[in-house]
Amino acid sequence: MTRVVWLDGVVVPAEQARVSVLDRGFLYGDSVYEVVRARDGRPFQLGPHLDRLQRSATAIGLGLPARAEIEAALATTLAAAAEADAYVRIMVTRGAGAIGLRPSLAGAPTLVILVQAAQPPPPELYRDGVAVVVVNLSRAGVDPRVKSGNYLPSVLGAAEAERRGAYECLFTDGVGRLTEGGSSNLFLVRGGVVSTPPEHAGLLPGITRQVVLELCRELSIPVEERPLWPIDARSADEAFITSSIREILPVVRVDDHVLGNGHPGGITQRIMSGYAEATRRPDHA
Ligand code: PDD
Repeated sequence: MTRVVWLDGVVVPAEQARVSVLDRGFLYGDSVYEVVRARDGRPFQLGPHLDRLQRSATAIGLGLPARAEIEAALATTLAAAAEADAYVRIMVTRGAGAIGLRPSLAGAPTLVILVQAAQPPPPELYRDGVAVVVVNLSRAGVDPRVKSGNYLPSVLGAAEAERRGAYECLFTDGVGRLTEGGSSNLFLVRGGVVSTPPEHAGLLPGITRQVVLELCRELSIPVEERPLWPIDARSADEAFITSSIREILPVVRVDDHVLGNGHPGGITQRIMSGYAEATRRPDHA
């Protein structure tokens, strides 16, 4: 598999790319990033992803390189990778400097862009659905709307999900409401109505989540953003998780509860088809 990296103005094989051990991304997770899927060299929803990168950077007071510079570097890296279906990771750290927490110690930001073949879950997971488990972890601490390089809660959630035989964890907030998956957003379907926790529940406003909300309106599927509890997930007719690489992945089990008839539901399948169609539109964003 080709895996290439943009660093310091050049594209190199990923194995050769080196960032300083004094880089604050390495030392503190003091960085922001985005993951985008690109087919035939065309990143899906690039505008919204770069907008979110900017919002994340602003929220933590990190000065990004100019947007045109990031776009040009991305185009060069995508061309070098020449992958028909690519995973694109755009990372900006606060840079290297003397060891110490104060951001004023940092030099210039480090831009790293990694492109490799997309490796979405195998087709049978889309066909059969996956299991998720509710965990007593959250992304609170730093504003969860910020996509920072500090992913320890998600790493711990992934470990717990694996231990409990599930594909993904579902985070909860201080009072036990569901927020999102470890690296995905959550949607439930009940009585024909699609629901997802609102942004103020403390979650990353996913780019895929936004496309799904718009798609439901286009398809005249009733949709609402409202607080959701674990009991709502366990008793849902259908559920699915969303993220840029996995797109829409059906969920058929929450903890020990099988949803519906144990197979991906009809509304989920309609949304999956609609989303696939949106990614194929020649004029997509
Ligand atoms: N993760 N919530 C969290 C905590 C995430 O990390 C992600 C994405 C999402 C979904 O966001 P989007 O639809 O914009 O991809 C929600 C990416 C894919 C990752 O870290 O690999």
